Amino acid sequence: MSEHERRDDDRSAWTRGHAAGLRRDDANVAPIIYPPEAKVDDELHIWDTWWLRNRDGTPAEVGGYRVVVALTASSELLPGKRHDVATLRYFYSEDGKHWETGGRVFEDGGALGSRQWAGSALYDDGDLYFYYTAAGDRDESELSYTQHLAVAEGGSLTADDDGVHVEGPWDHSSLLRPDGEWYEREDQSRGMIYTFRDPWFFEDPESGETYLLFEANSPVPEGSDACGGDAHQQEFNGSVGIARSPTGDPTDFELRPPLLDAVCVNQELERPHLVVRDGTYYLFISSHHHTFAPGIEGYDALYGFAADDLRGDYEPLNGHGMVLTNPQNAPFQAYSWLAYDHGDELLVTSFFNYFDYDRPSMDDVALLPEDEQMRRFGGTFAPTVRILLDGTETRIRGELEHGHLPLARESLPADWWEGDAERDP
Ligand code: FRU
Repeated sequence: MSEHERRDDDRSAWTRGHAAGLRRDDANVAPIIYPPEAKVDDELHIWDTWWLRNRDGTPAEVGGYRVVVALTASSELLPGKRHDVATLRYFYSEDGKHWETGGRVFEDGGALGSRQWAGSALYDDGDLYFYYTAAGDRDESELSYTQHLAVAEGGSLTADDDGVHVEGPWDHSSLLRPDGEWYEREDQSRGMIYTFRDPWFFEDPESGETYLLFEANSPVPEGSDACGGDAHQQEFNGSVGIARSPTGDPTDFELRPPLLDAVCVNQELERPHLVVRDGTYYLFISSHHHTFAPGIEGYDALYGFAADDLRGDYEPLNGHGMVLTNPQNAPFQAYSWLAYDHGDELLVTSFFNYFDYDRPSMDDVALLPEDEQMRRFGGTFAPTVRILLDGTETRIRGELEHGHLPLARESLPADWWEGDAERDP
C-alpha cells in the first residue's frame, strides 16, 4: 500500500458528534475585555502573535529580553483591510508586561507573497528562522488567496541597552505547498477559501524529531460519501497538517498525513500548536463561529485535543473540544489564541479583536459606519488567560493584564484575577 492509500488509518477526527456538545459554560467563558489604558502601539493594528522560541519550544530570552512577532498593519486602515497588507513586526519586553515595538522583521519587499500571514519563530543557538505564510504572489496585480509555507533565515538578532535589533539580509525560501492528496490545493476547494498556512515549528520531546504543523484542508471530491453524502457539509474540511524534517534541518520538511481533520465539521483549524505535558500531547487550534458546517453551533474559540503521542488518537478536550471562548455579549472580543506551558497552568494569549459588538455574526461588521468599525477594533494584545488542565478537562481560573506574558521562571500573581476582570459567562 502506498502511503497515500494508508492516509485514513492514522489521523484523528473531530466529528459532528463531538461538536454537537459545544456550549458556553463557567469553565470556558473568558471575562469581558475592556480596552487597556494604552495599546502596545497606537500606530499599528496588531493581531496574530507568537513567541520567538528555542528549539524545545520554550520562549527564548536574548540579553534579558523576550521577543514576540505579530501580524501588523497601519492603524489608519479599516480593521477588515488589515489581512490584505499584513506585515511581520517584532516586539520585545524585559518584564513581560511592557512591550516596545522593534520594527519590521523583513526589509521592504523582501518576503515571499504579496503579504505575510501567521507563522512561528525559532531561535536555534543564535540562528534565526522566521516561518510565515506567503499569501498571494509577490507581484500580483490583483489580490489572490494562494498560500504556501515559507521561511526566512540568515538575519541576526542582537540586544543591547537600546533594545532588540532584528536585521537582515534574509534568505527567503518556500518550504511546502499542498500536494492535492493529503492536503487540498486551491483548485480543489469547493467552499470557502482553502487554507494552507500558519507554519508552527515543533520538536517532539520524545523522539527528538523536527516537525512543522500547519493549517490545511483534507480534499473531499465531489460525489464522496463523506458526511452521509451531504455536499454542503463536505465543503467544511479543515485539517491540522504536519511535515517532518528527515535530518533535523529546520528548513527541510516533507509532508506527512494530517494529525487530525474536521471533515463535515469545520473549515478552518487555525494556528495549530502543541504543548506536551507529562507525556500527553495537547493540540490547540483557533476557529470561528462562521467556519462551522451547517447544523453545528460553534464559537470563536480556542479548541484543544489530547493524545498519548504525536501521532496518537486525539480526543477533544472536555468531550467537545472547546477550551476558551468569548462571552455571549462580546462574541468576537478575542481571537487567535496561543497556549503555552507555565508550571501547572496553561497561559493563553490572543489579540483584542472586536469589542462592544454583540451580533451573532461578524459578517455585518463591514456594514457598520467606518468610525464604528475603527472604534470597536482592539488591535492590541488581549489579557492573558490562566487555565487549569487536568487530564482532558480544562477550566479558566484567572486572568492577567493585557499582554502580560510571564516566562516559566516568573511566578504568577497569587490572586487569580489580575486587574478588574469581571466574570459574566
Ligand atoms: C487567524 C488567521 C491566520 C492567518 C491570519 C491572516 O487569525 O486567519 O490563519 O495567518 O489570520 O491575517
